[in-house]
Amino acid sequence: MHNGVTWKNLGIFTACVGLFALWLGNAPAHDDAVFPMARGKAQVGECGSCHTTYAPGLLPARSWRKMLGQLGHHFGEDASVQEPVRLALLKDLEDMAADGAYADMRMHRIAASVPVDVTPLRITETAYFRFMHDAVPKSFWRRKSIANPGNCAACHPRANEGHFGVRELRIPSEQR
Ligand code: HEC
Ligand code: HEC
Repeated sequence: MHNGVTWKNLGIFTACVGLFALWLGNAPAHDDAVFPMARGKAQVGECGSCHTTYAPGLLPARSWRKMLGQLGHHFGEDASVQEPVRLALLKDLEDMAADGAYADMRMHRIAASVPVDVTPLRITETAYFRFMHDAVPKSFWRRKSIANPGNCAACHPRANEGHFGVRELRIPSEQR
């Protein structure tokens, strides 16, 4: 009787198990909430002087377009830059946006959490941000050491490099 189990398809099965194990083994690193950052220094210099240098993948491209179209009135501040710099910043932000061409699963989730007819200017107003920070007690946000939810780097030490992995979290205490 021939039951279909041959050395050949046993070999294929073993190879599949091996590949699956390899994929699983890579999963934790992949899960580490890392966002791509612009390689040039422009974004860090121009957009990181007043607050965290926000990863472009935290908002959809239309948000960055709107924000960079009104830098003279940026949350009550004048954040305007020279036109060539603005265009370079905009290109980087759009290329790596949550709905950009190279977005990963996490960024797709962020983009999908924003209704199509809404253009948020705040990361902290997106449903994804609210969901991810649901467990943070309200009183934490008011700590002097944090001051405001947009101060990502207060709790995510490598936020300026686009790293938000949970293992790196440091919630600053009241005293600091
Ligand atoms: C002159 C200081 C200044 C500069 C320069 C600046 N910002 Fe801001 N930005 C602010 C202030 C002030 C807020 C509002 C902070 C608050 O009250 O929550 C803000 C808020 C933001 C937010 C919303 C954060 C949230 O709450 O989710 C984003 C996104 C942002 N800025 C992006 C940028 C980008 C991109 C650039 C560079 C083109 C830039 N900023 C340059 C001052 C600045
Ligand atoms: C008060 C401290 C605090 C601040 C400030 C803060 N976060 Fe978080 N963040 C957390 C905590 C705590 C978690 C973990 C939530 C969980 O796993 O239940 C988290 C999770 C995340 C995650 C998901 C990580 C993962 O592995 O899935 C992302 C992305 C993130 N934060 C982005 C941001 C951004 C962007 C900002 C700033 C606009 C920010 N956070 C500001 C505390 C903070």
